[in-house]
Amino acid sequence: MVMFESSIIQSTACYVKRKTESDASGHDWFHAYRVWKLTQQIVKAEGANSFSAELTALLHDIADWKENGGDDEAGPQAAKQWLDSQKVPDDLTTDICHTIRYMSFKGANTPDPTLLSLEGQCVQDADRIDAMGAIGIARCFSYTGSKGRIMHDPRRVPQTHTTFEQYKAQDNTAITHFYEKLLLLKDRMNTPTGKQIAQARHDYMEQFLAQFFSEWEGQR
Ligand code: ADP
Ligand code: NI
Repeated sequence: MVMFESSIIQSTACYVKRKTESDASGHDWFHAYRVWKLTQQIVKAEGANSFSAELTALLHDIADWKENGGDDEAGPQAAKQWLDSQKVPDDLTTDICHTIRYMSFKGANTPDPTLLSLEGQCVQDADRIDAMGAIGIARCFSYTGSKGRIMHDPRRVPQTHTTFEQYKAQDNTAITHFYEKLLLLKDRMNTPTGKQIAQARHDYMEQFLAQFFSEWEGQR
């Protein structure tokens, strides 16, 4: 990465940090930070363009649809405004905003709608990996709590959402979210590097669930 690129990355990191520091919905600065670090690792192994991928990682949740009345365009618009202010070349900005618009998970039976560039695929993998493993488990319970929902009710059956509307309208427990999203992510990875990291985090979540259900019945 050349010098002016690393200085844009640094100012983007400061901008995102400032904008997201007070967020408690799972899109705080530290989520962006972790996705940024995972992206660096994946991009290196996959030989993708790190400047474009790192900008995408930092900006990907700058204005999430869940916190913006379901507006899908708020994120890409905010990202474009920032990238224009930094004089990032138009073709890169277009690709970054395309990834931000389309990378989000929208339900178990809702396929990802469009092809992403290699950089976009690396960031999508990094974002999904951050919803897995120990961090993913913690984020799931913290999100559920922030919505005033309970962690588990054995009578609740996980839903397979076939439309994005159903997925958005759900009132799930933390445990059903594992079956509605978290355990499905390993098969949605784009890159070999993403698949490898996802598999380890997947196995950890399976172990966690086995322990959780045993403890629920007072065993172990
Ligand atoms: P992404 O960054 O892929 O768009 P989301 O914004 O959907 O991910 O989710 C942010 C975090 O909150 C993730 O860790 C996710 O698993 C968790 N989360 C999202 N929706 C729910 C839900 N309905 N119940 C529990 N956890 C959720
Ligand atoms: Ni994210």
